[in-house]
Amino acid sequence: MSARQLHLNVNLLHSGTYASAWRLPDSDPYACFDIGHYVRVAQIAERGKLDAIFLADTPAITDRIEYRSFMSMEPTIVLAAVAASTKHIGLIATASTTYNEPYNIARRFATLDHTSGGRSGWNAVTTADSASSRNFGLASALEHKARYERAKEFTEVVHALWDSWEDDAFVGDKLNARFVDTTKVHAIAHRGAHYSVAGPLNVPRSPQGRPVTVQAGGSSDGRDFAASHAEAVFTLAQTVDEGVAYARDLRARATAYGRSGDSIVILPGLTTVIGSTEAEAKRRQDELWELIPIEYSLARLAGTLQIDPTLLVLDQPLPDPLPLPANANHTMFQGTVNLARRGNLTVRQLLRALGGGVGHRIIVGTPEQIADDIEAWFRAGAADGFNLMPDVLPSGLETFIDTIVPILQRRSLFRTEYSGSTLRNHFGLAKPPSRFAKAGKERASA
Ligand SMILES: Cc1cc2nc3c(=O)[nH]c(=O)nc-3n(C[C@H](O)[C@H](O)[C@H](O)COP(=O)(O)O)c2cc1C
Repeated sequence: MSARQLHLNVNLLHSGTYASAWRLPDSDPYACFDIGHYVRVAQIAERGKLDAIFLADTPAITDRIEYRSFMSMEPTIVLAAVAASTKHIGLIATASTTYNEPYNIARRFATLDHTSGGRSGWNAVTTADSASSRNFGLASALEHKARYERAKEFTEVVHALWDSWEDDAFVGDKLNARFVDTTKVHAIAHRGAHYSVAGPLNVPRSPQGRPVTVQAGGSSDGRDFAASHAEAVFTLAQTVDEGVAYARDLRARATAYGRSGDSIVILPGLTTVIGSTEAEAKRRQDELWELIPIEYSLARLAGTLQIDPTLLVLDQPLPDPLPLPANANHTMFQGTVNLARRGNLTVRQLLRALGGGVGHRIIVGTPEQIADDIEAWFRAGAADGFNLMPDVLPSGLETFIDTIVPILQRRSLFRTEYSGSTLRNHFGLAKPPSRFAKAGKERASA
């Protein structure tokens, strides 16, 4: 069995993770609306032999767009265009389990899997923000636990629809006028608390069998959903201990669901600010920080903590106590508060440490230093790899690919060539059999 190797994605957050990325001299302010930008970043990621590009999504304007670029274009359409200009790079898009129908999501990602030759992945999120709820006839976001209960059933329906065609259902027999063997296409007849779906899907089984299911959300409900349905998870961890504790907990929960604990690929977010010297990296971070209007960072922090911004006093610590709002984004709330308390930071220091973000770890340093850090987390079992969040796109990713990937390859920690063409192959995940084919075989052997 080949040695364990890193998995590296890039979180293609429009112009880059820093809110000021679009304002740098080399940045194109229009990039987040330009399909060419996404294709270029994907080609750079593929040149570096990365596992996948990931597109986050929220069906609403949730950010302060007067200040920065934002998630705009529909991710699966963007990835379909990227698929045409790439060969190997995995294509993971987010789609909400609260503001979609399972049949449409099953069809969209199965189609992307066919379109890309087996490279699609679905990041199943429940969409925590309220702005989205108002675009779908609701006054506010669904209650936290209810969102995850619905997400479980939603995902079960999607998986059943992906299984509704057996691998060899398509016949295409011109001589005998037989296009499909309908004995191998199955209704799913799902009736549940939230969904009633007859099936089958109207798209044949895709190259991966099922696109890869990804999850992001570290609360107890979120972990339970991941343990029962996810094959890869995007997490937020700021220390090795936090990463190890999360991994242990998630693997134990997966085992309790009868799955192999190691069957889930764990990828914490990692924002990188790279310089040829430490001083240069720090200068780059300063430049990016100084270009972020402080009122933007304050508003973002107040949004994550769901508190009145006037309670945030720049040269004082966060209010204490700071209760976790029941329906908040638990992961980002806790990540932000932990960062502040651990460093005993004032609000001003916290804003700088967040870089205008939501609490993902930021590493500032030379390629060697960042490679050492990545290796340490990997060897400690705190991560199977990272969801890279370059400070600026494409330049921050290009530097990562040209300076850090070669170091990781020399240390035999990262692939030097793709050994297959599907996302499952990159993540080391098996192709799942269709439950109907399996049932058919069991019946035949009974
Ligand atoms: C790396 C990462 C990526 C995420 N991407 C999205 C996204 O694209 N859209 C979204 O609505 N939420 C996204 N989330 C938020 C999660 O889906 C979830 O709502 C959040 O982490 C809170 O989950 P919790 O309340 O279970 O802790 C992301 C979270 C993480 C850590």
